[in-house]
This record gives sequence, C-alpha cells and structure tokens, in this order.
Amino acid sequence: QDILLIGAPVDSGKDRKGCIMGPDAYRTARLAETLVELGHNVSDLGNLTAENTDISEHDHLVALPQTVGWTRTLQEAAKDAAPKGLPIFLGGDHSLALGTVTGIADHAADVGRPLFVLWLDAHSDFHTPQSTASGNLHGTPTAYFTGRTGFDAFPAVNNPVPTENVCMIGLRSVDPAEHAALADTNVSIADMRAIDEGGIRAPLAEFLAKVEAANGLLHVSLDVDFLDPDIAPAVGTTVPGGATLREAHLVMEMLHDSQRVTSLDLVELNPFMDERGKTASLMVDLTASLMGRRVFDRPTRAFT
Ligand code: ARG
Ligand code: MN
Ligand code: MN
Ligand code: MN
Repeated sequence: QDILLIGAPVDSGKDRKGCIMGPDAYRTARLAETLVELGHNVSDLGNLTAENTDISEHDHLVALPQTVGWTRTLQEAAKDAAPKGLPIFLGGDHSLALGTVTGIADHAADVGRPLFVLWLDAHSDFHTPQSTASGNLHGTPTAYFTGRTGFDAFPAVNNPVPTENVCMIGLRSVDPAEHAALADTNVSIADMRAIDEGGIRAPLAEFLAKVEAANGLLHVSLDVDFLDPDIAPAVGTTVPGGATLREAHLVMEMLHDSQRVTSLDLVELNPFMDERGKTASLMVDLTASLMGRRVFDRPTRAFT
C-alpha cells in the first residue's frame, strides 16, 4: 500500500508543550522503516508548518490563532494526500484533528463515499470553544468535525461527519458539558466500563460492520492516552485505567483485517515525558499491527 507520512508538530492545542517533538520521535522509533519491512511503499513528506492568520488572541482559548492556522494547513494537506495513498498524520496534539478529519471529509465527499471516524481516546474531545473550561482546543475536534456550532474563528465545515458515523472507544474522562451534548447525538460509545464488562472486540466489530455495509472510508484517530499510562507514559493528559497492550493490538489487528482504514492520526505523544522512547515505540508497534504485522494468519491450529 502507498503510505504518506505527514509530520504535524502541532503544539498549540493545550498549555503543556512537547508534542512539537512528536513527528521526530516517530521517525526515531523507525516508523517508516517498520512500514517498509511490512511491504509498504512509504513516503515521508516531512513536517508541515502552520499558515499565518490575522486572527487575534482570545482571552480564554489557548493559542487560537495558531490552531486556526494549523486547521487550514491540515485541511489542505489532508485533501491533497488522500487521493495519493493512506496518510498517517504524525502529531502533534489532538487539535490537529480539527484539520485532518474535515479535510478527509471533503475528500470523501469528492469521491462520493461516506466517512466514518473511530476515536480511540480517554476523552471525547466534544467541547465547543464556548464549553471548554480549560480553553485547550485539543478538547474540541469531535465537536467541530460533526458540525456543532460555535467555531466561528475556524473555517466553515463543508462536510460535517454525521454523529452516527462516529465511534469512541476507551473513554474514561468526559466533562459534564461534553456528556450532556453527547446525549443528543448518535455517537457510538464504548467507555472503559463497557470494555471491562464485555471486552473491546464487540463494539469495534459492530462499528466496522456499519462501515462495511455503507462502503465507507474510515479515519482512525489514536490518542496516546487511549492507552494505560503504565505502558504509555508520554502524554500530558494521562488518565489511569486505559487500554492494555493486548486490547490495543487487538483493535489494530481488527482494523487491519477490515481493510477499511484510509487515514490515521497519531496524536498527543509528548516525547519530553517519555521513558527511553517506550511510548513512541509502542505507537509504532500499534501502527505496524494496523498495517498488517501479525504473528500467524487466523485461525491458528488448536492444541488437541
Ligand atoms: N476534557 C479536557 C479538556 O477539555 C481534556 C481534553 C483532553 N484532550 C486531549 N486531546 N488529550 O480540557
Ligand atoms: Mn484526544
Ligand atoms: Mn485524550
Ligand atoms: Mn473537556
């Protein structure tokens, strides 16, 4: 498969700095080489820089002008890249999805296919610029790309993703305003309790069947904090009780089997907080599982 690596060192989506180093950490952890070893044709397009804007700073929202600039840049980059292969956006914090998902949605409309989004995250990121208490815009992309109002400083969303096409898995930190707003949507949600009780396989299988039935494109947005902080410490917004190593690999392997994934965000890696590169390496391993690394083809021989 043709894979395009697109560095998006977005660090404006929250106060804590460090995600600017994300793209180079993935390169250092041998993302490109790993994908080549799996038989893919990989081009690293280098790092993007944010468009300048003439928007003024906002008294509550963190770095609004920069994040709007990144959104414009990434919308264009995503629209450009999608017809050429499978773009992997190397973040950067989750505010990059304001641009990547809306750009991919424009591409999906161009080719006449519905877009589905799988959000792997501890958080729902469903705030509007009005409802966010922290002012951190990395908490807002799912609200923006589904077409919620209140994003006046941002580009208009031409092709909002219908909420019934969005699935969130791994949630365990949802603010009251997000909770209330999600109740009015058709977003599918598997929070950590659902995963504890029923496993991670069923909700994902159900969502993938929907994507398949609609012949949809599938964008996956993988936030480092989806993972348990013990295995993935390099993130500013750790929440205890996340996905295990095996749960995360299973998700990636199922995504590979579905043959549906057409674009991917790797977000919120803060290499400044990593332990000898272990989080960056894990994110590369998960991407490898998504792109076809496996131990055996199924079914394996049973012991008798
Ligand atoms: N809900 C919190 C906030 O709005 C946390 C958001 C975390 N988002 C993320 N992309 N890590 O500030
Ligand atoms: Mn997130
Ligand atoms: Mn998160
Ligand atoms: Mn929030």
